[in-house]
Amino acid sequence: MKKIIAITRGDGCGPEVVNEGIKILKIVSEFTDYDFEFKDAPAGGEVWKQYGTNLPEKSFETIKKSDTLLFGAIGLPDLPPGVAESAIMKIRQGLDLYVNLRPAKLYDVLREKCPLKSEFIGSGIDITFVRENTEGLYKNVGSLGEDSAENLMFYTRDGCERIIKFAFEFAKKKNHKIVTSVDKANLLNTSKLWRKIFHEMSGNYSNIETEDIYIDAFTQWLIRAPHRFQTVVTGNMFGDIISDEGAFLIGSLGMGSSGNIHPGKVSMYEPIHGSAPDIAGKGIANPIGTILSVKIMFEESFNSSEIGNEIDHAVEEALQEGRTVDIKSKSLETLSTMEMGDLIANKLKSKLKA
Ligand code: IPM
Ligand code: MG
Repeated sequence: MKKIIAITRGDGCGPEVVNEGIKILKIVSEFTDYDFEFKDAPAGGEVWKQYGTNLPEKSFETIKKSDTLLFGAIGLPDLPPGVAESAIMKIRQGLDLYVNLRPAKLYDVLREKCPLKSEFIGSGIDITFVRENTEGLYKNVGSLGEDSAENLMFYTRDGCERIIKFAFEFAKKKNHKIVTSVDKANLLNTSKLWRKIFHEMSGNYSNIETEDIYIDAFTQWLIRAPHRFQTVVTGNMFGDIISDEGAFLIGSLGMGSSGNIHPGKVSMYEPIHGSAPDIAGKGIANPIGTILSVKIMFEESFNSSEIGNEIDHAVEEALQEGRTVDIKSKSLETLSTMEMGDLIANKLKSKLKA
């Protein structure tokens, strides 16, 4: 199976973590029928400095002609906010990547790294955020003046239906018992429409329990009783916020993975951490967010949950032997980005060989 994968290394620690993602893809191609061709698609702050655009036409063409995109991280501290980052928006909008899938799973071996007291962690944390990724406040409709500014929060029925349907189908595939919808229907018109559609669609999934929670209450329940959530579906801005909260619960922002997805079309996989300029070039960034994004790539773009599971298990085993500094443990060796990637790659190798 030949697949073309566009590669955006990006800024800061982006190139370092992407290398480890590619390492995993190479192991898969060595031991399975997959055959990958990698094509560079530079984007971000460094590229902006060089060419005056954060997403050169040529990069976007490469991405559009590929099967998927593996994306590092972009952003530079000496550029105004958004100058580099808006490339992400161009890709999400340009490819109509309406799903942002963001799992927050706490591996048992990292339980001590979770900032919550054990009584709050309870039976464990394994939540998947399904964030709407093209509408809401991210439509970029509004104006910026000297004395006032506005942003329009805009949702369509089609936009709500497709993301909510994705969430229910995802829950069904994963045997989740409950889908939680997060909104602000006590205030916002957009949430009233969202909630109505969520209830309409829940009728098609009678085996799945549903609940609605307001965004403010949800941020509290997420740290009070995270074990009660499985699939959580929400709009773009709320999803942005709660997925960062979720990422902190799994031990480190460096563990957070994501997929920006349009089922059946070119989709983009990226760790949820940023370019982390403070640690860039030091070889200490945690590559697991990127490696787990590759896992999502197999599940969602290549329809291979088997390989996705193997990557997941390889990560879990590796975490029992060594860790990058952000999740370090006294009794285990502290590893560099590359060493962590090697350890996971070796675990995966022995699984795929078997
Ligand atoms: C994310 C990021 C982006 C977003 C920024 C960089 C615009 O925070 O992927 O969550 O808000 O979606
Ligand atoms: Mg964010």
